[in-house]
Amino acid sequence: MKCPQQDGIRKTLPGSPASLSVCGVAEDRALGHGRHARKLGAVRAIEIRGFEAAMVGDAAALLAESWVGPVPALPADGKGFAAIGGGRLVGYLLSPEGSARIRLHEHAARGDRREVYRRLYAAHSLGAAAESHQIDMLVSDTVAVQTWFELGFGVDQIKGVRSLDTIDVQRFDIRRADPTDVEPLIRLMIELNEFHARAPMSNPDALSEEEARRLVVDDVARDGGAVWVAVDGPWLVGFMTSHADGTLPRVATIGAAMVEEARQGQGLGTALLARTVDWARETGYERCAVGWTSQSPTSDRFWRGHGFEPYRYTLRRVIQSRRVPPRV
Ligand SMILES: CC(C)(COP(=O)(O)OP(=O)(O)OC[C@H]1O[C@@H](n2cnc3c(N)ncnc32)[C@H](O)[C@@H]1OP(=O)(O)O)[C@@H](O)C(=O)NCCC(=O)NCCS
Repeated sequence: MKCPQQDGIRKTLPGSPASLSVCGVAEDRALGHGRHARKLGAVRAIEIRGFEAAMVGDAAALLAESWVGPVPALPADGKGFAAIGGGRLVGYLLSPEGSARIRLHEHAARGDRREVYRRLYAAHSLGAAAESHQIDMLVSDTVAVQTWFELGFGVDQIKGVRSLDTIDVQRFDIRRADPTDVEPLIRLMIELNEFHARAPMSNPDALSEEEARRLVVDDVARDGGAVWVAVDGPWLVGFMTSHADGTLPRVATIGAAMVEEARQGQGLGTALLARTVDWARETGYERCAVGWTSQSPTSDRFWRGHGFEPYRYTLRRVIQSRRVPPRV
């Protein structure tokens, strides 16, 4: 691509000093090769190695610099990469076997965090066979989010939390699900999956009846969890599941929620959420959380509208397989 400066046009970013061109090469020229050379030296000074069990303590200390609350245990046999700079650990990226998603505590970086993450991702992506790469980020960590956006990632899932303050709601017939509700719950679970198959979510993962049954049966029987259903006479028209969050202490997380399409927008979802929030408070939880697909027009509006504050993104990059030209 041609640099704008080569055409005699100096493009500057809004609010930036006139000497800072949007073209990296021009910037290096404007600011002098010395800085460019120093920067390259710093890049080379970061060494990428395989992560080793002996690094777990340093990795936990590195994570603690940005982690709020008790630092989760890092796996001693963690597969992944370590970045070493100035003789110490400046970053790590773990990728547990069988998981396509790198979770919040499975990565951290200090110093030139952008460069550390870029070097770690270059090493990770060499061996990662999955067709999509996923990594969790704190929404508040704007440097890391920007770095991963520049690596080709985008927001796929959002997780938000809210207090357990009571929600004012109209009266609807809401009750706790029991084993006789399993069949209609399977139907709604499949409807939810089909909703996610549509644009703009376009999720390709279909849910079989057998998988839907397993999810429903587990949710209804789960300790520390609850499934609330909205009923209209004999008909089950909506549901919301919740359970103890896997990582956040004293937080109840909403798993799945669906209101029949023809009944949406009438307040049933709000009534299900109000009951879930009351149940969570009565059970001893302190907050509730939910994850949603970023593109979803109904869930993004519904959860944010009910006070769920996004704190975590799951970023995703789709890896296309190499196109082979047709033989002639
Ligand atoms: C998300 C979902 C569960 C919400 O359920 P719902 O019954 O449609 O939700 P509600 O009717 O309570 O609220 C939806 C909107 O209707 C409004 N509403 C509430 N009561 C209303 C009433 N009596 N009359 C008209 N509108 C009303 C709400 O204020 C809300 O509007 P807002 O978005 O401007 O705040 C439902 O839309 C759904 O199943 N969507 C598809 C699947 C999905 O996204 N599930 C969540 C996956 S994580």
